[in-house]
Amino acid sequence: MDLIGLYPMWYEPGIGSGWVVGFIATIHVLFSHTSVGAAIFFMILATIAYQQNKPELLDFIKKYGLFLLVFSYILGSITGPGIWYSTTVASPRGISSLIHSFVWKWATEWVFFVIEVIGVYMVTYLVGKVDQKTHLKLTIILGLASYTTMLIILGILSFMMWPGKEEWFSEGGYLLGFYGENTFAQLAMRTAFMFSMTAVVGSIVTAGFKDQVFRAQMNRWLALAGIGGTVVGGLLFYWYLNTLPEYAHLIMENRLPAWFAPSLYSILAAMLVYFLMMMVTPRAITTWVAATATVALVVFGLWPEEVARESIRKPYVSGQYVYSNQLIARDVPGMGIKSEIPLVEAHGLLKTQVFMPENLRTVTPDNILQVGQALSTQMCSNCHSLSKTGIRPIGNYIGKNTDIPAIKVYLKAALTTGNTLYMPKIPLQDDEAEAIALYLANLNDPTQAARHKAEKSAVAQAVIKE
Ligand code: HEC
Repeated sequence: MDLIGLYPMWYEPGIGSGWVVGFIATIHVLFSHTSVGAAIFFMILATIAYQQNKPELLDFIKKYGLFLLVFSYILGSITGPGIWYSTTVASPRGISSLIHSFVWKWATEWVFFVIEVIGVYMVTYLVGKVDQKTHLKLTIILGLASYTTMLIILGILSFMMWPGKEEWFSEGGYLLGFYGENTFAQLAMRTAFMFSMTAVVGSIVTAGFKDQVFRAQMNRWLALAGIGGTVVGGLLFYWYLNTLPEYAHLIMENRLPAWFAPSLYSILAAMLVYFLMMMVTPRAITTWVAATATVALVVFGLWPEEVARESIRKPYVSGQYVYSNQLIARDVPGMGIKSEIPLVEAHGLLKTQVFMPENLRTVTPDNILQVGQALSTQMCSNCHSLSKTGIRPIGNYIGKNTDIPAIKVYLKAALTTGNTLYMPKIPLQDDEAEAIALYLANLNDPTQAARHKAEKSAVAQAVIKE
């Protein structure tokens, strides 16, 4: 019999692994988008500074550049590998699917990233120290290299949602996987919004300026970039929605909370108000106000956006063939990949997983709770936290139910058949469903396991007496 080599699961008690990845990724979006936006902004400012002889703009580049070195580059370089570490343990096969398709793309991205990091140091520290033409060239190299990193990463991100072309499934090949319609729509929308982020973060920098005229001038420039980015980004969002597969729309309509759309409009409106304040009352934008606006942008703008993106690609984590629980959901002949679902259907999860402890492979009254925990951790915890808090807490999702047979019926009806929109098909053998049901019931009422065991041994006693 074939075996399935799922890695042992990383599970973060209290919040679940999904949220850890989410926290890191969300702040990384702020750092990375701000650095790309600022690099392009610097490119424009430097051109104007040298053409129209406005040295104060170079002064601004220097100040914002120094801030970015710590804000985007040091913190970004911590959260970037943080995403690698956390996703590698939370979703090893998701990451593996990306590496198998895009390893050279990533290597290319890394080359441009190195140029970007060296570039930002040079652009910041060489203001006034090299001739104008050289400095302008460096600024342009920084801007273009930064944008290239984004372009490459976005092809990979949109593959996670949906491989570029349907042919990819049968033919493989990175170009078919890389560029889909969604890639460009997402790139355009993020390009616009990165200026909004650059403007909000930039207001932290201008808040420290002593020269009030300069402060007002730079706030105005930033605010204009921010308003442009927000308005255009808002419009591009509709293009982006149109490129999403129908399935994603179905999930959005059914699964995103009702407050989602109004909150999205509110955050866009709030950003526009903030940019107007930057233009009209620049003195009101103190360091604290600007820092609060930045945190608000992350909490109310980026977090919901990342959560929504994660939700609409469910039940998959990558490429519409790796389920979030890491099982391979379909054949991908183009990559020589075979679905694992038939094997699980035939033999169950306990018998087929390489890393399942031997003493859990057969369910007994003594190990059933442990089996339930092992299966729930492996099959559910990527999307549901197994405690009361965190990502989609599973006890609440079964409606605080403690009725083992009822939960088991649900598991067989919904998961074994793959009958939900957003959850994987998880073919459970009868005893496996029972073990999960017991574990879930016990989460809601910790006396359930003991009671179940007592009942079983009473039955066993009765059988022996007969
Ligand atoms: C791919 C991610 C994913 C996996 C894996 C997953 N679920 Fe879910 N589950 C969801 C989502 C998404 C929802 C619906 C969320 C919402 O409505 O807010 C959900 C909803 C539920 C519900 C509520 C009833 C319903 O059908 O909407 C139950 C019960 C549930 N899951 C149990 C489980 C169990 C048990 C497992 C593991 C055996 C599991 N889920 C694995 C994503 C997942």
